Amino acid sequence: MRLGAAQKEQFERDGYLFFPGLFTPAETRTLTSAVPELYSRREAYNVREKGKDAVRTSFAAHLYSEPFARLARHPRMIEPVEDLLGEELYMHQFKINGKAAFDGDVWQWHQDYGTWLNDDLMPAERAMNVAIFLDDVSEFNGPLMFIPGSHKRGVVDARHDQTTTSYPLWTIGNELIAQLVDRAGGKNGGIVSPKGPAGSMILFHGCLVHASGSNLSPWNRVSVYLSLCAISNHIRRFKRPEYIAHRDFTPIETLPDDCLLKDYRVDLPWKNGMPASALETSTDALKLAA
Ligand code: SIN
Ligand code: MN
Repeated sequence: MRLGAAQKEQFERDGYLFFPGLFTPAETRTLTSAVPELYSRREAYNVREKGKDAVRTSFAAHLYSEPFARLARHPRMIEPVEDLLGEELYMHQFKINGKAAFDGDVWQWHQDYGTWLNDDLMPAERAMNVAIFLDDVSEFNGPLMFIPGSHKRGVVDARHDQTTTSYPLWTIGNELIAQLVDRAGGKNGGIVSPKGPAGSMILFHGCLVHASGSNLSPWNRVSVYLSLCAISNHIRRFKRPEYIAHRDFTPIETLPDDCLLKDYRVDLPWKNGMPASALETSTDALKLAA
């Protein structure tokens, strides 16, 4: 799926594009039905909500689950980002966020590129997220919130919050958020939250400021996020475990458009378990060949 000029302009202006109902119910079912078994695994890659059993985020399923390995190569998710970044892509991060009914906790205001820069030494903001909803998303179950146009500020000041939730994040202070929202239109569009049926897709800039509230509703809000990075922009440090920040910079080869419904062969390198090396980390920058 390729983007037209008007979509590219809209992305430049707002920092995101929303595609309601892009994947059919039959396609999303192949993914949703695999989630409970993945979430039941007691593995490091399943991060649970603070003090609770509900899964907050589950990493790297594209390396051990067939339906998610196919999604990671889906042309509707990969091609628009190739168009925007003008380069082949590798998978920097892959996660299935739970935002479980009653238990799903907040994601504080942040920019993803802030974390990719500070933790992973990713050189430039040539990476972005593509999200797909596996449940219907409404105002009740903790939808993502964006500050339109905030990506144009580049990387803003952030603080490493390791206590508020179970997942550490470089978060942005309230004063700056208030200022950014005001500049984006205040009560008239300064915050937006794309809502729609399961199967909807959002593509958003690595510097777009975003957050989500807790989910007090009786409805889960499972969403998958592919964080795609231009291959020349690969990370320069392995400070985080490999299941969070990937170290394989091989370009993604897309599958045909019907790949969620037909049995295409995919590699599942972690099918029989995650290698011990995935837990090894280092604070040193990579030594790259000159
Ligand atoms: C994220 O910002 O990485 C996740 C936010 C969410 O799933 O609500
Ligand atoms: Mn984020």
